Amino acid sequence: MTDIDVRLLVAAELDRTRRRSVVLTDAVDDDDLVRQHSPLMSPLVWDLAHVGNQEELWLVRDVGGREPVRQDIDHLYDAFQHPRKDRPQLPLLGPAEARAYTRTVRDKVLDLLDRVPLEGRPIVERGFAFGMIVQHEQQHDETMLATHQLRVGPPVLQAAPPPRAAAAVGGEALIPAGPFTMGTSAEPWALDNERPAHTVDLPAYLIDRAPVTNAQYQEFVDAGGYANPRWWSTEGWAHRMRAGLFGPMHWHGDGTYTRFGRREPLVSAEPVVHVCWYEAEAYAAWAGKRLPTEAEWEKAARFDPATGRSRRYPWGDEDPEERHANLGQRHLSPAPAGAYPEGASPAGVHQLIGDVWEWTSSDFGGYPGFAPFPYREYSEVFFGPEYKVLRGGSFGTDKAACRGTFRNWDYPIRRQIFSGFRCARSASPELA
Ligand SMILES: [Fe+2]
Repeated sequence: MTDIDVRLLVAAELDRTRRRSVVLTDAVDDDDLVRQHSPLMSPLVWDLAHVGNQEELWLVRDVGGREPVRQDIDHLYDAFQHPRKDRPQLPLLGPAEARAYTRTVRDKVLDLLDRVPLEGRPIVERGFAFGMIVQHEQQHDETMLATHQLRVGPPVLQAAPPPRAAAAVGGEALIPAGPFTMGTSAEPWALDNERPAHTVDLPAYLIDRAPVTNAQYQEFVDAGGYANPRWWSTEGWAHRMRAGLFGPMHWHGDGTYTRFGRREPLVSAEPVVHVCWYEAEAYAAWAGKRLPTEAEWEKAARFDPATGRSRRYPWGDEDPEERHANLGQRHLSPAPAGAYPEGASPAGVHQLIGDVWEWTSSDFGGYPGFAPFPYREYSEVFFGPEYKVLRGGSFGTDKAACRGTFRNWDYPIRRQIFSGFRCARSASPELA
């Protein structure tokens, strides 16, 4: 890409992203914007001003070297200073002020985008800082969508239903033993935790060709899965008891669930969503399987045995299009298994990208050769056994914040996110 192409792409991506943030915040009135819909989430008006504040810190002040717009509010929007549950008590910008602030910051960014050199410092090479800010806002758009799912009241968001299944997809794919390239050193906007590319050698394994569906998960529930500690780890069972879990979040126990304010019958072929890591782990044990490791997930998604190289996405190196995956909040639910045959990987594994984030068995950590960039707080401070990795993005994730190498992480009890899973198992010697 030429320098001018990068600038045009950045401007288009910033604009596209902001339009989504506006949809999510204009959908509700001012009372709803400042209210906390769940102690797990910030008020929507916090997300909005926080997006603007990060854009100011990184692009206006750091990259652009300009005067601060609102230095006085930095501490209010520093996610490390105030946990989500405390944010409603802060003297936050109101809805009108927050909107005006984000617009002021954006105008300055578009002005400096035309002038600032995109070389000479790692932070600006190939537009990295701008890409980081686009991804950051997109991540908050997904967070805001999760807040909408927790909001009580009449529905306010509209979207077309996802495509129907075009092919029957079930069973497992065999991934033969061998090395593959995990992570990336080439993707210009990849974040520090996706780097560097490195070789991982895996024994043969089988992985589900589709995420676990509502119908499959219902079988686990009907079989008494939530009543039998046998399927649960010690910590998982303790959590199940303490939290009183009886099924995925937003299920009512009568074959219906609530989605963005609408109560509807469960769709059998749709991937199950809003399960925590412990629930995924218990289901897998009940099914005689286990969760895939992060490396197993990525090899199934990216490895092309014909060339021996790893693709950017399961379908190839092209950016996601509508025919490949359910991304970007085009639909407000996962699509049924088999809805995206054009998005399958060379191994015949479907819907790895989009629909639901997929829990893996892996703890979040740095790859060999990891270097924090642009700061330790982006990823490194979260490394360790308390966070589990999720892969692949959901229907609420934008394509700018989702790649074959993209890594998300969360606590194993969390399920307000758009989280599902698929299962894997080690191949027996005769298959390997
Ligand atoms: Fe943030």
